[in-house]
Amino acid sequence: MNHVLETIKNRRSVRKYQDKQIKDEELEKILESAIYAPTGHYDQPWYFTIIQDKDLIDQINEGAKEVMSRMDVEWIAQMGRVENLHIFHRAPTVIIVSARKDATTPMADCSAAVQNMLLAAESMDIGSCWIGFAKFHFQ
Ligand SMILES: Cc1cc2nc3c(=O)[nH]c(=O)nc-3n(C[C@H](O)[C@H](O)[C@H](O)COP(=O)(O)O)c2cc1C
Repeated sequence: MNHVLETIKNRRSVRKYQDKQIKDEELEKILESAIYAPTGHYDQPWYFTIIQDKDLIDQINEGAKEVMSRMDVEWIAQMGRVENLHIFHRAPTVIIVSARKDATTPMADCSAAVQNMLLAAESMDIGSCWIGFAKFHFQ
């Protein structure tokens, strides 16, 4: 099997992380993979915010869970109330992906970028997970 297909098939969401930071060179390669993603109208509307400060990651986790706990969708509300649930699974690096609202297809563009990053991470034997719950902190 070629390497690309192998990487696609091997990638899985990782929910347990080592207590050590990835190297800057690895992070740069992951981010570089993101900006090679296709975008509607070639807008490239994205912003990538890197967070490696544990206290800030924990704050976003708490903020998101607080919003989740008040939601009408019962399973999300229940997850928001789980004491030891950390929405980022205690990962040491979080990449927040956001976009300009006036872009043609910002959600599709950012999704393509995220998938590139997950695959780039996998290709370097680095675990990762797409975290949709994070959005609750930023809405
Ligand atoms: C849009 C989106 C949002 C997701 N949000 C979360 C999340 O908040 N927390 C989490 O642990 N996994 C999240 N995931 C990961 C999925 O649960 C996971 O991809 C799915 O269960 C399949 O497992 P795999 O990635 O190992 O193939 C998300 C995936 C996508 C595509």
